[in-house]
Amino acid sequence: MDFEFKRLGPLRGELTVPADKSISHRAVILASLAKGESVVQNISWGDDVKSTIRCMRQLGVEIVQDGKVTRIRGKGCAGLTEPNDVLNCGNSGTTMRLLAGVAAARPFLTVLTGDNSLRRRPMARVVEPLSMMGAVICGRENSRLAPLVIRGGELKGIEYHMKVASAQVKSAILLAALDARGETVIHENVSSRDHTERMLLEMGANLERKENEIRLRGPCELDSREWRITGDISSAAFWLVAATIVPGSEVLVRDVGVNPTRSGVLTALKSMGAQIHLEDYRTVGGEPVADILVKHSGLQPVEIGGNIIPSLIDEIPVLAVAMAMAPGTSAVRDAAELRAKESDRIAMVVSVLQQMGVEATETADGFIVHGQGKIPGNCRLFPGGDHRIAMASAVAGLVSEMPVMVEDFNCVDISYPAFLQDLQGLIR
Ligand code: S3P
Repeated sequence: MDFEFKRLGPLRGELTVPADKSISHRAVILASLAKGESVVQNISWGDDVKSTIRCMRQLGVEIVQDGKVTRIRGKGCAGLTEPNDVLNCGNSGTTMRLLAGVAAARPFLTVLTGDNSLRRRPMARVVEPLSMMGAVICGRENSRLAPLVIRGGELKGIEYHMKVASAQVKSAILLAALDARGETVIHENVSSRDHTERMLLEMGANLERKENEIRLRGPCELDSREWRITGDISSAAFWLVAATIVPGSEVLVRDVGVNPTRSGVLTALKSMGAQIHLEDYRTVGGEPVADILVKHSGLQPVEIGGNIIPSLIDEIPVLAVAMAMAPGTSAVRDAAELRAKESDRIAMVVSVLQQMGVEATETADGFIVHGQGKIPGNCRLFPGGDHRIAMASAVAGLVSEMPVMVEDFNCVDISYPAFLQDLQGLIR
């Protein structure tokens, strides 16, 4: 489905965004490894989490969905059974990398594949540590690409220094370590999102965290739990930018996860001059949560780089739209990881901005935007199947001088199936 976005009235009102995708994946996987029934309220309805649910069912886990309630009947790590077919992780890197960790510790054969995008994404980063733990893993191109064939078995704990700041890699190691003999120690130079650690602690795992170091002593049993998953800051980010740049807007996004390892977008937007206020700050299921109020305001340019990058990595496409609306030169650096996402997001962001008439250039590890405080638009964009590129383009269209047509807009179903309805609900 192609969809045209154009200048509309202000965005006003309240909304909740889809449940956090990262936490939803983990709730399904960890509950599947626990003993007993876990109840998850308000799981993400995006296609990525559906992929995780489908794969866990293929591994023998009973998962029942009834409205907003998902019941997962875990039988412990040992309760998983050999799947009789390939597990298709669709577009979801989190599904593939976390399940690689689960499969590594199981005494059977698992084959993980995915769509065209996922089969191009780097997998050596999980193959290497899981092989060190004792799993036998092969993949295409010298085990750098999926499909991955995993012959799991008895694992041993390892000491591992992270080479990229990746929560998916860290989580894969922790999931494998749950069923490994001895201690696993992970050293992180730069912190990545820590949902797995928080959830494992809530479920009674033998896990300790010190600055930049995580220790887990296996084998451990996990307790079943009730989770209520709050809104995804990565989805809220589209409205935070949209309400900031569309004149006259005022939007309250309720119930958003504001874990500091995820909330760099708030810091970046505030440093650009955005009017963003957190209200009713609270903790839900071990995760910080708040309502976020955002009002239209002018923006100034910003340079983003260094340790903040992992905490806003998924929000960079929409931050690029904010940069285009900030008169002056903005830059993103230290973000080469963007090239390994659902698309090469450095190339995609720059190409989309240029097609909209915004001056932007690629660098090896980021991009530069020469913002003029306006977006000419008048273009037809192909987001390359990347949900976040499609939604960032839509947000740009809300302020562009001429309409922006986004092709294949359905790709937003990966994380935000109700994006268009939510947009409709805010237009005044
Ligand atoms: C995710 C971690 C991040 C992020 C992705 C979701 C997760 O990827 O970009 O959208 O749920 O663990 P990396 O861990 O590869 O940085």
